[in-house]
Amino acid sequence: MARILITSAIPYINGIKHLGNLVGSQLPADLFARYKRGRGDEVMFICATDEHGTPAELAAAKAGKPVAEYCAEMHDVQAEIAKGFRLSFDHFGRSSSQRNHKLTQAFAGKLAENGLIREVSEKMIYSIDDGRFLPDRYVEGTCPNCGYDSARGDQCDNCTKQLDPTDLINPRSTISGSTNLEERETKHLYLMQRSLKDKLEAWIDSKTDWPVLTTSIAKKWLHDGDGLQDRGITRDLHWGIPVKKGDQPWPGMEGKVFYVWFDAPIEYIAGTAEWADANGKTDADWERWWRTDKGAADVTYYQFMGKDNVPFHTLSFPATILGSGEPWKMVDYLKSFNYLNYDGGQFSTSRGRGVFMDQALSILPSDYWRWWLLSHAPESSDAEFTWENFQASVNKDLADVLGNFVSRVTKFAKSKLGEVVPAGGEYGREEAALIADLGARIREYEALMDAIEVRKAAAELRAIWVIGNEYLQAAAPWSAIKTDPARAEAMIRLSLNLIRVYAILSRPFIPDAAQAMMEAMGSSDWTWPSDVPEALRALEPGHAFTVPENLFRKITDEERADWQQRFAGKRD
Ligand code: MF3
Ligand code: ZN
Repeated sequence: MARILITSAIPYINGIKHLGNLVGSQLPADLFARYKRGRGDEVMFICATDEHGTPAELAAAKAGKPVAEYCAEMHDVQAEIAKGFRLSFDHFGRSSSQRNHKLTQAFAGKLAENGLIREVSEKMIYSIDDGRFLPDRYVEGTCPNCGYDSARGDQCDNCTKQLDPTDLINPRSTISGSTNLEERETKHLYLMQRSLKDKLEAWIDSKTDWPVLTTSIAKKWLHDGDGLQDRGITRDLHWGIPVKKGDQPWPGMEGKVFYVWFDAPIEYIAGTAEWADANGKTDADWERWWRTDKGAADVTYYQFMGKDNVPFHTLSFPATILGSGEPWKMVDYLKSFNYLNYDGGQFSTSRGRGVFMDQALSILPSDYWRWWLLSHAPESSDAEFTWENFQASVNKDLADVLGNFVSRVTKFAKSKLGEVVPAGGEYGREEAALIADLGARIREYEALMDAIEVRKAAAELRAIWVIGNEYLQAAAPWSAIKTDPARAEAMIRLSLNLIRVYAILSRPFIPDAAQAMMEAMGSSDWTWPSDVPEALRALEPGHAFTVPENLFRKITDEERADWQQRFAGKRD
């Protein structure tokens, strides 16, 4: 039994994610976690909300709530929606947890001890009325180059000139509109990533089996332009993890917090500690997943994320870990995704364009979305969601292929032979052929799932559903029952067993339908069908089954047109 650690990039706290976010990290991570559990491996699957940073503060202010309260509420909202999508996290933590505070401060302390932190003084814009320093993009004013009156402190959107906030004419705070601003000197901590470059490079070079998308991004950041830069890991904000050196104060850094991208990935570890706390476990129980000196040497660690997250996971976070000099488990396989576009454009959170997770669940059950998203995962290139394509996939793959097989078999069996597995006849030549074909396809499906080739695995699973229909069509129990009823009984016995096998194989993709199929077959035996002939005899003659409710319904043209219009983008 292998031990598999899986983390999904942790979603920002501010707002509900759209389907493009979902398919880029949490959903494929869940697919893989469910698959590995199905194979009998020991799995630890961690996700969390990413709660710090200016966007969280601003979203809370907009909602008129204290930021801690806002985050606590939004965490529960996201946790609920994750449940709706059947995301099977062992723990859905919070980057604002005490566990993360302690771990983040401990990492910073170790990095300082190892001489990898330097202090840098810089001038920043301070807003007297807002009582805070303003990040560059929260300062607006007139562009000195083109005169555009809403240029941001980092760049003018009109003439694209790169700016410093101090270049702006008549600068103002975008938070309050106040022009009562001044330059102030402030000190920050920088992680000296450049001195870790050789170690990082050697580590990345050792990952010869990673997807090209992952390594190409990592290498680009390592070498292109100015290459790897030292990076500021502190900010002048109120909300965040207070800057400390382990559990000691950090002189000169009072009132400052760590940068959100410093503490967020540490939450993968902290989230596992939160899992231990929430389940009455000890430190040793989570450390055996993360400390190679405490049992994690035989863990295989997989990360899932969108491509924009790759630099943080191939360079920044590994720099934190390598720099600590401590024996933490590092990622073994990093699966990254391209973007999912929406109906001829992009998903847009600000314009409400596209389908958001809560809306998706309000119109159709999660399996429908899971199936479409995973079978169209943006792996080798960006992908596009269209309602036509969604309707076609659901109606064909789920309703016509899988749903139809289950319903034909169970309805026919019930009406002609009763609601138990029939005893007559023997499996013959046609059944042997099906068993051979199925066995080969299952091995291929396993290989694709092990390699996290999500789209290809979905296509293979669909092909496995198709061979059931083809078998049924060729064997034609509805004819056989008139001439050779025992043969018909053997065919139906095999087909009912096939439904149970389909439930097991399909569970990582469509867990609710899988559950319904398993229950209809009167079983709770989820043993992976490694031995196909045996798996197809698991339901024995006389075993009771029921006809399940329609597993999937079809999407009508009217619904499609209605949804297309509804999600075109208006939500503010
Ligand atoms: N919140 C980030 C995003 O949604 C992901 C953070 S992943 C972690 O893009 F590494 F920081 F955890
Ligand atoms: Zn300009």
